[in-house]
Amino acid sequence: MNNILIELEARRDAARMGGGQRRIDAQHAKGKLTARERIDLLLDEGSFEEFDMFKAHRCVDFGMADQQYAGDGVVTGWGTINGRMVYVYSQDFTVFGGSLSETHAEKICKIMDMAMQNGAPIIGLNDSGGARIQEGVASLAGYAEVFQRNVMASGVVPQISLIMGPCAGGAVYSPAMTDFIFMVKNSSYMFVTGPDVVKTVTNEIVTAEELGGAATHTKKSSVADGAFENDVEALTEVRRLVDFLPLNNRQKPPVRPFFDDPARGDASLDTLIPANPNQPYDMRELIGKVADEGDFYEIQEEFAKNILIGFVRMEGSTIGVVANQPTVLAGCLDIDSSRKAARFVRFCDAFEIPILTLVDVPGFLPGTGQEYGGVIKHGAKLLFAYGEATVPKVTVITRKAYGGAYDVMSSKHLRGDFNYAWPTAEIAVMGAKGATEIIHRGDLGDSEKIAEHVTDYEERFANPFVAAEKGFIDEVIVPSSTRRRVCRAFASLRGKSLQNPWKKHDNIPL
Ligand code: HXC
Repeated sequence: MNNILIELEARRDAARMGGGQRRIDAQHAKGKLTARERIDLLLDEGSFEEFDMFKAHRCVDFGMADQQYAGDGVVTGWGTINGRMVYVYSQDFTVFGGSLSETHAEKICKIMDMAMQNGAPIIGLNDSGGARIQEGVASLAGYAEVFQRNVMASGVVPQISLIMGPCAGGAVYSPAMTDFIFMVKNSSYMFVTGPDVVKTVTNEIVTAEELGGAATHTKKSSVADGAFENDVEALTEVRRLVDFLPLNNRQKPPVRPFFDDPARGDASLDTLIPANPNQPYDMRELIGKVADEGDFYEIQEEFAKNILIGFVRMEGSTIGVVANQPTVLAGCLDIDSSRKAARFVRFCDAFEIPILTLVDVPGFLPGTGQEYGGVIKHGAKLLFAYGEATVPKVTVITRKAYGGAYDVMSSKHLRGDFNYAWPTAEIAVMGAKGATEIIHRGDLGDSEKIAEHVTDYEERFANPFVAAEKGFIDEVIVPSSTRRRVCRAFASLRGKSLQNPWKKHDNIPL
């Protein structure tokens, strides 16, 4: 017996060494942790249960029969994050560059199947040279098996991808189908074809970092939802994110202990809106003041900054926040902000996370750039997402809610449950100046008359009361009471039940 136990330990030790000390040192020299070190940081101490530690590849071509590493380049299993179960896979770059073989894929698929069956999130730590070149089509088949499971798991369990090294070719498409992608600055990149192929095909000379580094994907392409300084920060932040999320689509989001009075007033909100309607203010300030302990987990902070999205807690329960940001492009909706917010609204709805919408929007951004880019279809995504969402929806209009953007931003007409407005709200088809120039075109030469018309229009429409008279606004609230009103609104909606008509699936404008 003793000998068998000694052999088991020896085999385990060998598996834990991955591709060997030389390659582990090389990994460390790049500022990267190993696959196992990453899992240790991600999960609660001692909670990791490994699967398939000894699984081996079956390839015999190109001398591969003699090159065996227990586990075949990916560490898989489950564990807990703050006591809540998650499944995890972590690619081991020290074994064939973390490349994906048939058996490597089988290991990932096994834990994806278990995650779906048992209702727990899947977290993928990606660090891979892509398809295992020696295995050819068997590797491609492995990818497709993973892709299919990403699709099946979408909306069933949260899927989170961390990109912690290369992620190239078809390897990018599994993360792309997950709910959130986070990258590590200066050590991770994602692209469909690398710099060499780009140079051959398009003559562009570009570095891997420029083509698919964290800055590119968080600021330009919006493929990634966030970027962190190093492995440790990335793993810590993913733990924080998981705390906000339900384990699956059959559960409510977790409720955490909170130490912040839900009735807490904040007098500074009564003066948040500047006297000049064209002067911006930071919507993050309002989010911080309504959230429990001011804690806001922002997603896609660097992209489409005219809209803010992320998670807060109110009375300990997770709430998704969508908020126009007046400091950037006056908080208007455009292609990028609509896409960004629409996907977030759909994530929240899929996982029963109530949505708080904070509105200060002068409308959709005009221009050929927007129209040629398909702002109609992209704007419709957000409209569609809000319209189909059945989770509790609370909306607060702080200032402008003009035109189509008023409708889109979780209005009463899109089944908003509580639609509040501050007394400073202006709910109208458009701003007073623009409206006057259309209605009173004949007076355009007479500046005095025009000024009179503008004042007249402002008095009539630049307020929340016309909408309130029609019941489109449920209540005009005092800004300082926003946290109390919103907390009470969500509390009253905890038992909300609303079903959409049966359909196979909808046809959201993609
Ligand atoms: C097998 C691989 C590998 C791969 C790397 N290695 N990529 N082995 N298949 N795809 C091995 C290397 O041979 C090396 O082995 C070790 O991993 C580390 O690689 P290095 O090149 O030394 O590391 P580095 O300099 O950091 O460069 C990393 C890299 C580079 C940029 C990822 O290795 C690379 O370009 N690899 C090939 C990428 C690629 O073309 N993949 C296929 C994409 S097509 P030793 O023994 O020396 O340690 C694809 C299609 C999928 O993925 C489609 C699905 C739909």
